[in-house]
Amino acid sequence: MNLFRIKKPFILIIFGASGDLARIKLFPAIYELAVQNRLPKNFYIVGFARTEKSSKEFQKEFADSIKKAHKDINQNLLKNLLAHVSYFAGQYTEQADFIKLRKYLNSLAKSNSTTKLAYFSVPPIIFKPIIKNLGESRFLPNEDLRLIIEKPFGQDAQSARDLFHFTARYFNENCIYLLDHYLGKSSVQSLLNLRHSNRLLNLMMKGPTVANIQITAFEKVGVEDRAGYFEQVGTIKDMVQSHLLQILALIAMSIPITENADSLHREKYAILSAMKFIESKKNIVLGQYKGYTKEKNVPKNSHAETFAALRLFIDRETWYKTPIYIRTGKRLREKHTFVVVELKKFAFQGKDEEPNRLIFELQPEEKLSICLVNKIGNETQSQEVTTKASIACSGDYCLPEHALLLLDVIRENRLHFLSFQEIIATWEIVDTISNFMKKNHMNPEKYADDSLGPNSQNNLTEMDGFKWFDRH
Ligand code: BG6
Repeated sequence: MNLFRIKKPFILIIFGASGDLARIKLFPAIYELAVQNRLPKNFYIVGFARTEKSSKEFQKEFADSIKKAHKDINQNLLKNLLAHVSYFAGQYTEQADFIKLRKYLNSLAKSNSTTKLAYFSVPPIIFKPIIKNLGESRFLPNEDLRLIIEKPFGQDAQSARDLFHFTARYFNENCIYLLDHYLGKSSVQSLLNLRHSNRLLNLMMKGPTVANIQITAFEKVGVEDRAGYFEQVGTIKDMVQSHLLQILALIAMSIPITENADSLHREKYAILSAMKFIESKKNIVLGQYKGYTKEKNVPKNSHAETFAALRLFIDRETWYKTPIYIRTGKRLREKHTFVVVELKKFAFQGKDEEPNRLIFELQPEEKLSICLVNKIGNETQSQEVTTKASIACSGDYCLPEHALLLLDVIRENRLHFLSFQEIIATWEIVDTISNFMKKNHMNPEKYADDSLGPNSQNNLTEMDGFKWFDRH
């Protein structure tokens, strides 16, 4: 397979160029594309933010964030890359600034056919002014301008719909790329690839065969300096709404029969729109790490959940009565994202026999383990035979999430982006959960920092006669 290299000139405008997302994720991703020689001869990276600064100063920030992310820097390559980087100061709400920006962009690339990518690396509250100003300052109605909007798209189903209608006033749906960086992780992409290439796996991953699905995303980091944002959302909106429900959709969907994006979106939507939260306190556990209220900018009486465990169902015949357990939290013992698909036991198998299971390790390790239980000799002993296969990318195929997704936008591949319908479906399920939490004045229980979260998460699985699989 040939590596994809960009041939056509492009301009990448990064709105929010001084923010964390740009510094921590985007700049290093662009450097990685340069290392792999994926960039064309003519391209321009334009940072846009409110603070006045020169392109020289911005280039220094750009270089510093790359040096922070990479140990061994190729100085020559970095120097060449910086020659493509410039800065433009402006207000997001000022149309005049966007008109000036347009003129500046046109001075960089004379040809109208140059692809322009507008990356929204800004807080969601600034999405609308940028969309409006970009739309209204357009010189040519049919220019090739693509908007890359990173989650969260809205704060609930209503605001997501509203944002979509607002965007549609200025841009066609096919110019908009809705990005969830989890879909850029090679391990998450391999869920689709593995399912597409293995009948064996698919025979096992069907409702009638599966006892339950467990999705775990533990993080070691706390809220860091994002309290302002996190206080408004909490972990369910931050992690479950997009990242974890997307993983679930990739695991539980029927296999799309073609490899095109519409087909995949349709199958994922079929699962996401059928998600069901049965309104009962038995189906939800909320937690908050003990040190949370001592973090910068967190109110002492904060009720934001930093941990959540949920018991959900998929309202489709094939998944009827199969519990789906999802849990995620911050400031836990380690970073670990994995999915366990537990297979049903035969009726004659004893209660103490361990079930067979498929374990998709997504990060930090990337591997698939198939854990088969085998009896040896006398009936009370059993032995687990685990087969492991790496699902990690290798060599030149490895790129950070944002680099892979940028390449996809350039080649107009929507496979690893969200459809608007999927976003609404996931907000609808999250809205049901949030309203239930509000109605019942649910407060999170405290859990020790660096632990595995509140013990009561076990109630969720135990009520169905199962247990969480923590280590393998
Ligand atoms: C982001 C969330 O979308 O994903 C963060 O806003 C979270 O709170 C992050 O820490 C996790 O991403 P990753 O790639 O580190 O698992």
